[in-house]
Amino acid sequence: MSKTQDELKEMVAAKALEFIPQNGILGVGSGSTVVKFIQAIQAHGIKVAGAVSSSNRTTELLTEIGVKVLDPNECEPYEVYIDGADEVNDNFEMIKGGGACLTREKILASMAKTFVCIVDKSKLVSTLGKFPLPVEVIPMAREQVARSLRALGGNPVLREGCITDNGCEILDVHGLSITEPKALETQINAIPGVVTVGLFAHRGADVVLYATDEGVHEKRKPE
Ligand code: A5P
Repeated sequence: MSKTQDELKEMVAAKALEFIPQNGILGVGSGSTVVKFIQAIQAHGIKVAGAVSSSNRTTELLTEIGVKVLDPNECEPYEVYIDGADEVNDNFEMIKGGGACLTREKILASMAKTFVCIVDKSKLVSTLGKFPLPVEVIPMAREQVARSLRALGGNPVLREGCITDNGCEILDVHGLSITEPKALETQINAIPGVVTVGLFAHRGADVVLYATDEGVHEKRKPE
């Protein structure tokens, strides 16, 4: 019998426990798969020496289970960052930000030696872009950024009622077929008023763990 998406998320979250460093800092992302990862840490009584967190929600959950959350400014680059994704392609490039936490996620990903992406099979794609691409913007720049995104061929839609942990807004860009993720990430990053684009191409994943009905599979980016 095929597994539900929730069961697949639980499977991949449990597998990710193997990547927690014994003594070092752990970077923890956001989203429903990460919530299951945090629950698995608690359920298996895993000791986490300290963590950096990509959202206020993740910080709350980690604190509740007794994990000390550190300010990234007080940390050196660290070993492992574990996070979900909205889409991931064969080149380990991702769309993230469905949960509006993309900016802090990108900061923590940039500090980590290894990015372990945890997904269920529905997130694997050959071309990024079916999932609307989140772009976090400074509110006063929203309309001008939207014009620039239209000029790039997308259809940006304001995420209603969403203010990020950084006090910014999100434009979800529909209608893109992203054949050159690195180039598009660079282009969108250059638009004044853009805080972060949810394309994780320049710094993609190093390991992708993905759950299917048959079990959890692991792909590693070649050195
Ligand atoms: C949060 O902003 C996102 O980047 C999440 O990593 C992404 O949306 C995946 O979330 P789920 O695990 O809830 O699918």
